[in-house]
Amino acid sequence: MISNDMAARMNGQVNMELYSAYFYLALSSQAESGSLKGVSNWFMAKHYEEQAHAMKMYRYLKDQDATIELQPVAAPPADDLTVRQMLEATLTHEREVTAAIHGLVDHALAEKDHATNIFLQWFVTEQTEEEATVGEVLGRLRLFGDKPEGLLMLDQELSAMAAAMAQAGATGPTVAPA
Ligand code: FEO
Repeated sequence: MISNDMAARMNGQVNMELYSAYFYLALSSQAESGSLKGVSNWFMAKHYEEQAHAMKMYRYLKDQDATIELQPVAAPPADDLTVRQMLEATLTHEREVTAAIHGLVDHALAEKDHATNIFLQWFVTEQTEEEATVGEVLGRLRLFGDKPEGLLMLDQELSAMAAAMAQAGATGPTVAPA
């Protein structure tokens, strides 16, 4: 059975994943307002993906008979960002999530909580993939230097990535076609 301390930390991570969902929803909204439908769809896909992460942790806590402690979800920043700034903010955020997940693994190992350690391995892998994807997209955007043709290409590319995520079942049903 999971310890109260480990469960409290995992509850904190549920909150962080829900915040991530909220954070990407805000970026999706900003991108749509800027007529970048593909970018907007990609952030919306990430919104649903983060909800799924929160629910995966929620289910684990319930299966471990732990108490669910739902905390207020902070409002994401309301800054008006360029696409490049959005992606930079995404990478910074995902690095913070990675650090939090690694902290949870450290704690599970210290407690010799094998079940939680194994459960968290999926998130460790997921974070590596997420950081790599965002880093790759950001790298290309830095090459274009925010030029309109580059942005258009990126918009189409992210639209295709969002569609692939939806097809893989990682997202909810309401991602609008680009
Ligand atoms: Fe669930 Fe992208 O962290």
